[in-house]
Amino acid sequence: MKKKVLAALMAVAMVALTACGGAAAPAAAAGSGDSGDAAAPAAAAGGGKKVAVAMPTQSSERWMHDGANMKAQLEELGYTVDLQYAEDDVQAQVSQIENMIAAGANCLVIAAIDSDALVNVEAQAKAAGIPVIAYDRLLMNTDAVSYYATFDNKGVGTKIGEYIVKNCGATKDDPKTIELFMGSPDDNNAHMLYAGLMEQIQPLLDDGSLICKSGQIDFDSNNTLRWDQQTAMKRCEDILTRYYADEDLDICACAYDGLSYGCMSALEGAGYTDANWPMITGQDAELMATKHIISGKQTMSIYKDTRLLASKCVTMVQAVLEGSEPEINDTEQYNNGKIVVPSYLCEPVAVDKNNYKEVIIGGGYYTEEQLAE
Ligand code: BGC
Repeated sequence: MKKKVLAALMAVAMVALTACGGAAAPAAAAGSGDSGDAAAPAAAAGGGKKVAVAMPTQSSERWMHDGANMKAQLEELGYTVDLQYAEDDVQAQVSQIENMIAAGANCLVIAAIDSDALVNVEAQAKAAGIPVIAYDRLLMNTDAVSYYATFDNKGVGTKIGEYIVKNCGATKDDPKTIELFMGSPDDNNAHMLYAGLMEQIQPLLDDGSLICKSGQIDFDSNNTLRWDQQTAMKRCEDILTRYYADEDLDICACAYDGLSYGCMSALEGAGYTDANWPMITGQDAELMATKHIISGKQTMSIYKDTRLLASKCVTMVQAVLEGSEPEINDTEQYNNGKIVVPSYLCEPVAVDKNNYKEVIIGGGYYTEEQLAE
């Protein structure tokens, strides 16, 4: 499994790096549009400084892309990069960050596994004068974080919800069944996605156009710890057995491609075929998910250009290390319980079989050949 992810990553990294060699420059140039030629002096200034990047897991393709993009873009600017993954083990990530601090990191970039569990190491970093930047996932309950680079997380849920409402064909006279497979409760993104999704589908649940037969509408009942595929598969199996013996499930509202794969296994196991295959949503537009979109097994996903996210995060690293100004476009939404963290939100894009060519292939994220393999 991991080998496949690695192979896919290497292929994607090649594309990303080629596109970034092409794209790191334009992305950096676009980012520095407001601040003049920030990229040029920083390239010289980066020399010798150590940036430590803590990522959650190599078992999901997106984090492999994020790590590879961050490393490539930071090295391009002359920084030394210490990139580490913690395989979704919270304690392992705490230890990695402690080691990064001890090894003399000048800046920490953290994509947390459990956003609440890092409060002590973040305080250690602050005490040691090491700036911390939150990568994609907000770091909760700390005042040690300087900036946050992410995607519009509520927007991800909104886009999934809008897609369902527009395309599922549910009406009061012809209601559709829906089940929700949401993200990890220790990840603020999962809560924001859920809020965005519910805003869209609640009216249809209220008027009976959408029916959730399990009744598991509250986030507490439909979240998936650590965004784990097996957990989603088991929950979907259980739901299909208990609530869908006599009626088909029409919509699997999944918050991440990995959860979609889990639901697909459960659906196959329960005997679903092309004739009654449900609408299945996802997030990240992983290579496999995009292939599933082409084959019709998955209906849509949310494309997040991790090259763009990395380039925004790199401007934040430059800001804390070189004293430049990063681009910020949100100073309200991301209150972590202690402070409102100045953030840059990249735009997520809904992709399905109608626009994947334009968005994903056209955007240089995957090649046609990779998708055909
Ligand atoms: C990210 C998603 C990702 C999920 C599972 C979230 O924090 O924002 O893009 O699908 O984690 O890895």
